[in-house]
Parts: sequence; structure tokens; C-alpha cells
Amino acid sequence: MNIKNIKSEFPIFEQKVNGKPLVYLDSANSSQKPRAVINRISNFYETEFSNVGRSVHSLAVKATNRFEESRDKVKNYLNAKHREEIIFTKGATESINLVASSFGEKFIKEGDEILTTELEHHSNYVPWHFLRQKKGAKIKFAPVNDKGEVGIDEIKNLINSKTKIIAITHISNVTGAIVPIKKIVDLANEKNIPVLVDGTQGAPHLEIDMQELGCDFYAISCHKMYGPNGLGILYAKKKWLDELPPYQGGGGMISEVLKENVTFADTPTKFEAGTMQTAEVVAFSEAIKFIEELGIKNIHNHENEIMEYGIEQLKKNNSVKIIGDPKERGSVICFTMKGIHPHDIATILDEDGVAIRAGHHCCQILHDKLGIPATARASLGVYNSRDDMDKLSDAINNCKKIFKI
Ligand SMILES: Cc1ncc(COP(=O)(O)O)c(C=O)c1O
Repeated sequence: MNIKNIKSEFPIFEQKVNGKPLVYLDSANSSQKPRAVINRISNFYETEFSNVGRSVHSLAVKATNRFEESRDKVKNYLNAKHREEIIFTKGATESINLVASSFGEKFIKEGDEILTTELEHHSNYVPWHFLRQKKGAKIKFAPVNDKGEVGIDEIKNLINSKTKIIAITHISNVTGAIVPIKKIVDLANEKNIPVLVDGTQGAPHLEIDMQELGCDFYAISCHKMYGPNGLGILYAKKKWLDELPPYQGGGGMISEVLKENVTFADTPTKFEAGTMQTAEVVAFSEAIKFIEELGIKNIHNHENEIMEYGIEQLKKNNSVKIIGDPKERGSVICFTMKGIHPHDIATILDEDGVAIRAGHHCCQILHDKLGIPATARASLGVYNSRDDMDKLSDAINNCKKIFKI
């Protein structure tokens, strides 16, 4: 991996932050965008823009073709069986809300159980909470162990005849634990229980193959995959999309509208109500191209090497406590420092141009379990290097000096 070359594809790194070169360690929150993606957005608006799926004029037909080509690109990247299994949404949050709402409407009744874990982001809990309130369902939480992992046994122990869906993250955005998704899906398939994977932190870092994985739903954040903001994907097996009721009503998603009744379009259109993101969908093809050219396995190996180096450096610092020690870790390092609030750490690191995130990272249940209100989080993308980890360590030492610890 030639990081210098890779970094030069991201215009954001041309600037200084607080007079220092930018060390961006907040990719689990949102990744930076390569020039190819940015250029595709502006080029699309300059030369090809029109709304999609509606008008018959040349521009509209061309824009619609580009939009649908992007769906094909995603289908191939994920190795989905059918292009109709790819739904564009505004983010992973909307993808999960769609499933909780439509699946919940049709298949969940009072007393049914939704099995999730203590690791989940609020996006993979609150939509199920709405369903619990609406239908009188129950939510069961598979516990996190002291390494910050959830294993297959914790899931196995909670499955029973009332379990109607398992909703589980692929990689924790706090402990970094890579959840044994394949094993969980295989177990659930044996028992005919559908599985929704929150793939928000998985898709940017791991090779994912929907047919091989066999899950029923997989939610993706395009903005964490070097793609445009305001865009997400829901992969869902066609058998579900054919059966589930629409999530939102409006233009585009109908077949026929009469005063007495409304019938709906087939999937994926049934789930894409109203004017869709257009430039964003088209430009996401460039983000996939960028990942494909580097190779997702190479990206993963590179990030892993940098992360392990970073953890080694942080472990030398006796004021730093790393949160979680999972056997398999995604490129997320959460930590605390005795006597310094994580928000203060993030503010002081920013003075040195080091961008990290602090807070509960939308995982309050996990932080409650850990007995801490907040953590500081450094998270990696393909553009990070050992040098970034050294700068993180230096900035943390600077923080210690300021707080005299
Ligand atoms: C694990 C996890 N799930 C869900 C989300 C929400 O994703 P989005 O911003 O695309 O809605 C995030 C975002 O940080 C996340 O880290």
C-alpha cells in the first residue's frame, strides 16, 4: 500500500488543521472522500443531472441509466443474487428502520422476541424499541463479555420459539469486536430465524459476500465507505422484499393509485418513495471502484497493521486504558485516560491536528455496561499510516502534560 499516493487522492489532506497536517482518525464516524467521488458528483450535476425514474427526455433517461448502473455495481460488489435486492436509503439508520417497520408490521406480534446485543449502536436498537412499544414485543440483549465481544453461545442461549428476528452488528463501533456473523447466521438459518446485520462498520473494512454470508438483511452506510453523505443501502433477500409492505408512501413507489385503493410497484421501487438521492447514488460507483482497485483484503490488512501498531504505542502509555480486547478487532480503538474527560482529550488532540471522536458513540447501553459515560475513539481508514499513530501518541502525551498527569 502506497499511503502517500492513496492520501493524495483525498483533497481534504491538502489543508492544515490548527496549523498542523490533518491526522484523520474519525473514519468510523464518516470517512473522507476521494477525488474521484467528489468529481463524479460535480460532473454529474454539470452534465447529466435530471430526476430519475420519471421523465422520458434524454437527460432523464441517461440519469436513470446511471442510477441503475450504480445498483448493478453494488449488486456485484456485494455478490447479491438479484439487483432487486439492493435498496437505496439515506443511511444505515434508515435501512434498519425500514426493516423494523415493514418486517415488524407484518411478522411481529405481542410477546414475540427480537434478539439483539449489548454492543448495538442506537440505530440498531431504537427502531426495535419503537416496534416493542407498538406491538408489545420483547427485546432480548445478548451480553457482552469482559473483552467487549459477543459470541455465538450468548446468542444460542437466548434463542427460543418466540425469537422472530436477530438484529446484530458486524463490528462494534466501540470495542471493535468482529462478531462471528457467519456462525450466527448459520445457526439462525437452521431455526428459520431471519438475521439483520448492521454492516455499517463491517462493509468498509471486510470482504462481504451476501450469498456466502446468507443473512436476510444487511445495512450499509455509504458515507463510511468513501462514498457520498446522505446515502445508505439495504441489502435484503428478494423473498422478503416481495412480501414486506412498503416503508414510506409517495411518488414512484406505486403501481396504481385510485380513490378506493393503491397498489405498489415491485421491489426495489416499492421501497424507494419520492425523489431519490441521484448524484450520490451515481457517485457511489466511484467509491466502490476505489475500494476494488485497492482490494478490500489489502485495505483490511493495512488497517489492521496500523491499528496493531497504534495499540502497541498506546499500551506503552500508562495513563491510557484501551477499552475491549477482542480476539478479532476492526479498526477502532476506544480509550480513556484517568482524570481527563474524553471530550477534553478530543479537544486537546484537535489542537495538534488529530481528529478523534469522544462520547458514547451512540452506544449508551454498552457504556452503561462498561460503567463509563464516555470514551475517546480513534478509528482508521485506508489513508492512515504508522506516522498517524505516532502523532496520536505524541498528542496524548501533550494532553498529559496539560493536565499534569
Ligand atoms: C455500528 C453503527 N450502526 C449504525 C450507524 C448509523 O449509520 P448511518 O449514519 O449511516 O445512519 C453507525 C454510525 O456511526 C454505526 O457506527
